Parts: sequence; structure tokens; C-alpha cells
Amino acid sequence: MKLIDYGVREDERPYIEEWSKNNNIEVKIVSDLLNPETIEQAKGYDGVVCYQQLPYDPAIFDKMNEFGIHVMSLRNVGVDNVPFDALKKNDIKLTNVPSYSPTAIAEYSVTGLMILLRSMKSMIRKVDKHNFLWAPDIGRELNELTVGVAGTGRIGRAAIKIYQGFGAKVIAFDKFHNEDIEKQGLYVDSLEELLKQSDVVTLHLPSLGKGNTVINKDTIANMKDNAIVVNTGRGDLIKTADLYDAVVSGKLAGAVLDVYENEVGIFNADHSGEPLNDELLSNMIDNPKFIISPHIAFYTTTAVKNMATISLDSMLDELQNGKSDNEIDLN
Ligand code: COI
Repeated sequence: MKLIDYGVREDERPYIEEWSKNNNIEVKIVSDLLNPETIEQAKGYDGVVCYQQLPYDPAIFDKMNEFGIHVMSLRNVGVDNVPFDALKKNDIKLTNVPSYSPTAIAEYSVTGLMILLRSMKSMIRKVDKHNFLWAPDIGRELNELTVGVAGTGRIGRAAIKIYQGFGAKVIAFDKFHNEDIEKQGLYVDSLEELLKQSDVVTLHLPSLGKGNTVINKDTIANMKDNAIVVNTGRGDLIKTADLYDAVVSGKLAGAVLDVYENEVGIFNADHSGEPLNDELLSNMIDNPKFIISPHIAFYTTTAVKNMATISLDSMLDELQNGKSDNEIDLN
């Protein structure tokens, strides 16, 4: 068996090499992303492993079929950039890594919130300039706030535990109820109710598809004054321009955005010294009420190792046993 792993970063390489050695299976490591040109390198391999944020071009899958490759294994969880129809047409199975480290993302979202609540962005900028004045950067205490968790999958549930540890009142919403969260009586009946009652709204949802935003002008009108939005889920859950206006107008107190609707091509790339051709993003970066980070909530050694190795394990399961627990239902 021979596997090919695309879009591999240097921080992932040692884990892939170790897996290859331990399993005695050849894994060709490719730093290029997967596209209709680079798929040519997969000829003669049995399975394709990959991660990228750019959409996967449907033409890739015609080529995979031609090469006799019928499994693609993602090193990440999100499948929003994968054209399911092209996979089905070519009889290609897909696996992802549904749980590489829910705590990595949960911990990061709380970290971002604490940075915002204690005005750290503004304070650090001041101290860098030797301005040690306290005012106007007075903080707010998390233990006094109601945190609304939208999405009670593994990440949302890990976040709930941490918020409870801080003494915050936690409420939650999800279409699918989790038994433990239900037992604790945390669910409210609707997203509207969650937005209405929360001082902090934290999004732990997958993409709901283009145009289906959870935070926009209309939903913001229903939120508490001075509320905060935290998003470590997907950028397209928020109409960012509406969120920006709401913070600048003083309706909302701020936002923690680790994901951004137009992040592809900007995040995880070095644009030092260049102007950003994105006025909204530049404005948010300048504004101390926005904590902006480049989709790094997942980025820990634990998560990266799990993503690299679990994706390969799933591929092995598919190729050896014809199935994997991490197979995605394409229908
Ligand atoms: C995912 O796993 O889908 C993520 O959003 C993290 C990614 C940046 C590796």
C-alpha cells in the first residue's frame, strides 16, 4: 500500500513520518495543495490524504477515479469545501478527523474572550509604548456573565465545562440535544432565545451554507446591549460587516474572531509590510474591541499530531477493511 499526503506543513511532517515508520507503509509527503495539476502526482498511490482551506476542484476526483483511487481522507474536521457530488459521481469515499482536540478549540475561545473582557489588546498596546495607565481599560468579570453556547457537539461541550469552571451561567442551544447538557437543564428553546439572554454568544457550529448567518443585522437587534460574540467555528456564520457596525455603534461590546468569512488566502500566510486588500479586516485589526486571530484555535501540538495520524488510520481502515468510523455520509 502507498499513500500520498497533500498540503503538508512542516509542523505535521514528523508525525506523518513516524506513522509511516510505525505502520511500515509508504507515505509520500507533498507540500503543494491538492488541485487538478498536483493530483497527477497521485498516480500509482492507493489513497489521498489532504488538508486545505481552498475548495477542492471537482476535476480532482475524475482524475482520482482514473487512477483507481477511491478514498480521500481529510486531516481536518470541516467538509464545507468538498464537492460531495463529484465524490459520489466517482465512487470516492471521504473520511475526516471529527475529534482531534475539542479542548484545543474550547480553550482558545475562552482565552480570546478573557483577552477581550480584560481589555488586553489595548493594554498590551499601551504598555508597549510605556503607557502604564489603568483607565480606560477596566475589565468585566466572566463569573457574572451569561454565556450562550451555540452548538453542543464535542467542542461546545468542552467549552461549557470551562465556562462553568469560571462560575459563569451557561445556557446552550443545539438542534440535536446532548444527554448530559439536557440533564443539566442548560438548553433554551431557540437560537433567538439564546441570543436574547446571553452576555457572551460563542459559536461552535459548522458552516450552515452560504448566506445562512447566525449573527447578522436582524439577529443582533435581538441581542443584549454590550454583548460579545466569539467565533471559532466558521467565518460564514457571521455577516461580519453587520457585526462590525454593531460594535462601532456601541450596541455590542466586541468580538473574538478566530475565523473570518473572507479568510481564505489571507490567514496562515505572511503579509507583513503589505497593505491588506480588505478594509473590514484592517478596521477590525485596528480596533481594540476586536480580537482577531488567523484560525489558530485548533493549532496545538496535540491537535496537529491527532490530525496527521487519525487521518492516516482512517485511510488504513478504509483500504484494509472497507470502512472507517470516520467515514462521512455523502448523502
Ligand atoms: C477544521 O478542522 O476544519 C478546522 O477548522 C481547523 C483547520 C484550520 C485545520
